[in-house]
Amino acid sequence: MTGKLILGIESSCDDTAAALVTEQGEVLASVVAAQEEVHKQWGGVYPEFASRAHVTSVIPAVQAVMEKAGATPADLAAIGVTRGPGLIGSLLVGLNTAAGLSVGWDVPVIGVNHLRGHLRSADLEEARVKYPAVILLVSGGHSILARMTAPDDIEMLGTTRDDSVGEAFDKVGRMLGLPFPAGPAMDRLAAQGTPRFKFPRPMLNEGLEFSFSGLKSSVARHMEKFPDTPLEDVAASFVEACLDILETKCRRALTDNPSKALVVVGGVSASPPLRARMATMCEGMGVELCLPPLRWSTDNAAMIALAAWDYLRAGLAPPPVPQVRMPITQY
Ligand code: KG4
Ligand code: ZN
Repeated sequence: MTGKLILGIESSCDDTAAALVTEQGEVLASVVAAQEEVHKQWGGVYPEFASRAHVTSVIPAVQAVMEKAGATPADLAAIGVTRGPGLIGSLLVGLNTAAGLSVGWDVPVIGVNHLRGHLRSADLEEARVKYPAVILLVSGGHSILARMTAPDDIEMLGTTRDDSVGEAFDKVGRMLGLPFPAGPAMDRLAAQGTPRFKFPRPMLNEGLEFSFSGLKSSVARHMEKFPDTPLEDVAASFVEACLDILETKCRRALTDNPSKALVVVGGVSASPPLRARMATMCEGMGVELCLPPLRWSTDNAAMIALAAWDYLRAGLAPPPVPQVRMPITQY
């Protein structure tokens, strides 16, 4: 086995991750060291503490995947590392680690766009994505609708004007006393409630852009006015509003851009009610729904390694230099 693997390294936010992936998307080993304990008392990610936790976790994560796969540096075709978008201090830890390993092991390093990693997550372990496709990327930092005719041909359709969906989940979760990140707990709470409050669905009837901050503020005002409302009903009503928005925008994107598939990726794509809602919509529209397995929905390094294979094939190797903001269309 010579140069048949890419080592992926991810440290853009609050997860330190490493993985070894073949060109076909087979994942030989993957480690994600989450930092929930570090950040839970702050109700969000505390950037400086995130960087410090990455410093202690990153080398053990790399060692763990190399050992697990029985791999040596000679097995590596490249190291793919997230260079953005993300928190500057967090990005620098992964980037410096990758740059050091690249020199020490004599392996090329490729700076990868984290959003392109999410896009490729649906093809890990098995090629699932059919083209042309409409992509919904919903994570803690992003809400993006895009169209793809091939992995290297991406056209933006719309993004959020303010908060991302994941951010709205996390902020509303905080109002309801849920631990950060609130996505999974919000889904569980919502499943016990009834969506009896009609929260606003901003920009529902226009275009492919999103807006979630009005919905978030409306939940906040409701909680101020009616502090005794059963929290599960508030959660159910909030989730229902998010699902209505996401379904309407995806339906419109697929109608405007007839496609074989809808690909839903990013941390919020782990949400069971979102998966169910998209499955029903796709069935009705005769479109295939492509989802990453749950473990590849949230941040991981396997998706970064698979994206790095695209770069390698295209002869592209952006240097390991951070870029805090990056559009999805950029390599
Ligand atoms: O992709 P990701 O791991 O990190 C970013 O790149 O931002 O996404 C994290 C986001 C968080 O906002 C989290 O609350 C949300 O994904 N999330 C979920 C679920 N699991 C994670 N949202 C809804 N339901 C879930 N099961
Ligand atoms: Zn992410």
